[in-house]
Amino acid sequence: MKYSYANYYKNTKQDNVMHQVADELFPEGKCEKAFNSITQWPDYKQTDLISLDDFAKQQGVRKVFYKDESTRLNLGAFKALGGAYAVQHVLETRAAVGDDSPLTVCTATDGNHGRSVSWGAQKKNIPCHIFIHAGVSQGRAKILAANGATVHRVDGNYDDSIAACIKMADENGWQIVSDTSWEGYREIPTQIMAGYTVLAAETIEQLEAQKETLTHIVLQAGCGGMAGALLAYFWKYWRDDLPEVIIMESDMSDCVLESMQRDEIYLVDIVDETIMAGLSCGEVSELAWPILRHGASHVLTVGDEGVKPMMRYLAKSEGERPNIVGGECSASGLITLKTMMDNPELAKSANIDKDSVVLIIGTEGATDPDLYQEIVG
Ligand SMILES: Cc1ncc(COP(=O)(O)O)c(C=O)c1O
Repeated sequence: MKYSYANYYKNTKQDNVMHQVADELFPEGKCEKAFNSITQWPDYKQTDLISLDDFAKQQGVRKVFYKDESTRLNLGAFKALGGAYAVQHVLETRAAVGDDSPLTVCTATDGNHGRSVSWGAQKKNIPCHIFIHAGVSQGRAKILAANGATVHRVDGNYDDSIAACIKMADENGWQIVSDTSWEGYREIPTQIMAGYTVLAAETIEQLEAQKETLTHIVLQAGCGGMAGALLAYFWKYWRDDLPEVIIMESDMSDCVLESMQRDEIYLVDIVDETIMAGLSCGEVSELAWPILRHGASHVLTVGDEGVKPMMRYLAKSEGERPNIVGGECSASGLITLKTMMDNPELAKSANIDKDSVVLIIGTEGATDPDLYQEIVG
């Protein structure tokens, strides 16, 4: 079956200010500090970069590399790198100024970020409050509670859960550890993004060990924190040799595309929730925005049709590769590449052809085990 797309935007406004915006986001030493810290954690292990030869063949490209985050820090998603690192950063900052007053952390989440924050807090015996919106599954809520967090369910969508979190934090003196930034709240989301870049550093090392050079990178976006972090890191490493970067979004939460079209951050009102729960975010992180605006080459938005088939496809290898546990958001990269190859005008616009080497990020495993079971069996 051919995949169709909802919307496509080619970023012709790319200009030469990436060095400035990337250095602003990650000044010298920031990502290195995160790498040196996270790689010392007892649970740390590099995640696999898997060559999806069967999929590459089907799509008619030379290679597809899949960075498999399903095993990340036993938490099953790349998000483990960010939230827990930010909790550690909060503790270090307080220790540096001799602040030993009681600490409680909180965040809004659609699941994976909250899991990372609650895991980081539990390890340090810090009380943790997590705010989830109406669409977050019971399975995800259970996992958050199992990490010792107090879970608050809020009416409305992700943005409503952020508002509730901020209100309660103000009233109770809690420290917000959010992966979304807003005016006056930048340091912690930047540290979270620095944590994510461990994934990029590993990928570069793995590609170089195989002497492979990418032509394209697909990055799925919710608030764009991961896409912005990885894009900035890759840009700082490859500069003018940066591969073409394709941002993928759900058509139900297409805040990057809408912002790109207007050339300013635009708040999308989420009416329906995509099954790719981690991508359901109506506003681009203002930290990620300048990076995406100046560094991304393409934005593609799609519906949910491909998600379940691609999860099943990952689960059952048809060739040499291992079976892969890929959750809803992990289907993104495969859907993007297939959609581009199924629609020749897209493949042409993004210069994807038989010589292309594409990186896709399998951002999560079975982070909602009940749903995964239901879909994949
Ligand atoms: C599994 C997964 N993939 C991708 C994303 C998108 O990340 P971001 O919101 O930083 O764009 C999320 C966010 O929660 C996620 O949980």
